[in-house]
Amino acid sequence: MTRKFMDSFTFKNGVTLKNRVLMAPMTNFSSQDNGEVTAEELEYYRVRSGGVGAVLTAVANVTDDGKGFHGEIGAHRDDLVPSLKKLADTIKGEGAKAILQIFHAGRMSPPELLPDNQTVSASAVAPVREGAMTPRELTNEEIEQIIKAFGDATRRAIEAGFDGVEIHGANTYLIQQFFSPHSNRRDDKWGGSVEKRMTFPLAVIDEVNKTVKEHGSDSFIVGYRLSPEEREEPGITTEDTLTFADRLAQEDLHYLHVSVQDFHQGSMRDESDTASRVQLIQDRIGEKLPIIGVGSLHTPDDVEKAMEGGVPLIALGREIIVEPDWIQKVETGREEEIRTSLSVDDRETLTVPEPLWQAIVNTKGWFPVKEHQNA
Ligand SMILES: Cc1cc2nc3c(=O)[nH]c(=O)nc-3n(C[C@H](O)[C@H](O)[C@H](O)COP(=O)(O)O)c2cc1C
Repeated sequence: MTRKFMDSFTFKNGVTLKNRVLMAPMTNFSSQDNGEVTAEELEYYRVRSGGVGAVLTAVANVTDDGKGFHGEIGAHRDDLVPSLKKLADTIKGEGAKAILQIFHAGRMSPPELLPDNQTVSASAVAPVREGAMTPRELTNEEIEQIIKAFGDATRRAIEAGFDGVEIHGANTYLIQQFFSPHSNRRDDKWGGSVEKRMTFPLAVIDEVNKTVKEHGSDSFIVGYRLSPEEREEPGITTEDTLTFADRLAQEDLHYLHVSVQDFHQGSMRDESDTASRVQLIQDRIGEKLPIIGVGSLHTPDDVEKAMEGGVPLIALGREIIVEPDWIQKVETGREEEIRTSLSVDDRETLTVPEPLWQAIVNTKGWFPVKEHQNA
């Protein structure tokens, strides 16, 4: 059977992915405390980079006070370039394009990971979460420094040999915090109307693009990831996101990655609105900017069905952890051998670093699990 997602895909800059399936960005909690990648993390990526068209790495922080997780990849100091190079070389060495995801966690940082144990954000509004710290509002000067830090992290990605960066504007982190009317209550140039809440994300995109012009080449890919809605009141609405998407379609970007848990999921703010958020964005701007869809897709049929409405690229997250050889099994006619759930017996054969494995087995309902392979 020929599968449409096995066709190559060429971005507007002429760079071609050998197929349309990407590994979704997934934090693996396995880098060293100083941000350097570890041998087990490289091995985890090596075994997952032989099939997919591109690997979007676990997110990397662009500043010291933007760290979001234990064991996060660091992109915030020049001395981390050799570590980033190891990661890029590992992924590219197996044939996938390597794209580094970059962010600042803002008010979502665990305070104990920060130099002064104080989170920061657009405004001093705590996330809706038991015991969450109220962040300190960033000054204008600090905002400008963070924007510059996104440029510096991009330069390091270029020096390390990455094929691109993905600006992480999703999943409630700092860039989203500026776009959100919940976390951004500012009335200066960075906040207010939906247009003004776009100021920070657009400034980050500009800085990244400026850096690529200066230090990289036309072949460097710049993508953007967003979450289409927030549950909070006030919070990001689909209407806000479609307005933002119109604007992003005018930017010099190569793709827009829509972060949702389920590709087909409707609105989280209005249960009666069941249309897929990914598809809505595809229908609105897909002609101008390639969309990456993601979310609870496991089998080749799932991926093909998701692409039916014209979404050209699909990222697989948990599925690529569970089945590193997903593409190879499609390629060699062994689709029925694709694993779609995790067994506690698979730890060794799956090459999953211990911290990620612990997170997976200790978070109930996160991964589809079967008890024992031979039970
Ligand atoms: C272990 C794990 C870590 C994740 N870390 C990130 C991350 O670093 N950046 C990000 O944008 N999304 C992250 N996500 C979200 C995934 O990229 C993806 O959007 C989500 O898992 C839904 O896709 P899936 O059903 O194919 O797993 C993570 C998900 C998992 C399971």
